[in-house]
Amino acid sequence: MQVDEEKLRQYFSRGDEGAKLGSLDLSRMPRHVSIIMDGNGRWAQERGLERSAGHVAGVDSLREAVTTSVRLGIDVLSVYAFSTENWNRPQHEVDLLMHLFATTLLEELPLFHQENVRLRFFGDLTALPKETFEVFQEGLRSTQGNDGMVFALAVNYGSRAELVRAARELARMSAGGELDPNDIDSRMLEEKLYTAGLPDPDLLIRSSGELRLSNFLLWQLAYAELYVSERYWPDFSRWDYLQAVLAYQSRNRRFGGISA
Ligand code: FPP
Repeated sequence: MQVDEEKLRQYFSRGDEGAKLGSLDLSRMPRHVSIIMDGNGRWAQERGLERSAGHVAGVDSLREAVTTSVRLGIDVLSVYAFSTENWNRPQHEVDLLMHLFATTLLEELPLFHQENVRLRFFGDLTALPKETFEVFQEGLRSTQGNDGMVFALAVNYGSRAELVRAARELARMSAGGELDPNDIDSRMLEEKLYTAGLPDPDLLIRSSGELRLSNFLLWQLAYAELYVSERYWPDFSRWDYLQAVLAYQSRNRRFGGISA
């Protein structure tokens, strides 16, 4: 995606930290950045607040991450908002998250239009409460004409469930005689994943210091560079994001080959 260098400079022009931008190589940007937003609960608990306050604060970080991605010229930003395992949380927390997803999405539609962002979802949306489902459909419809960055929200998403779903679909096609099982290859499987048509993530950022993939994009992250930030998600800022991209640029990606 084209970077507006003037806007980028302005966006990162604050105090001494602005100097970090000088090290950024705009010719080596990740195309797809994925984020596991973790630590909302701990952020809240450390302040003597309800966990839900952490999720509410996390919305601000997410809004900033969307804008940062656009300023950096990222093609795809994908974030893990709710996993297939998150249904096991206390009902009031699940209810709050579902409501927060719906209200936030509606409130942020003007930002998505202003920044030419197109929404996409990974996961089984049919299991979501009606309000959330309908707002998501509205978000998809409303932003489908935008041709800038793709912003993908993984909601009721689990990578194993995604792979099972893809396997079932290919099996159905084979059973129906549409497809010879011997012809199944990686590309065909990828077309059945929620990420169909998108480049694989180049950079995975996880906040709050945990060293896990937590069933997120297992297939797609095969060659991604991993960056773990110690910050809780509500504290994760544009500077942390920039730091992650700089770390990415310092790595030597080999894709299983040998060093250049
Ligand atoms: C992980 O923190 C965070 C989540 C499960 C929810 C992520 C949701 C948001 C950032 C809110 C806004 C999202 C959208 C899409 C509007 P945790 O609760 O697992 O934290 P902990 O590990 O400290 O308990």
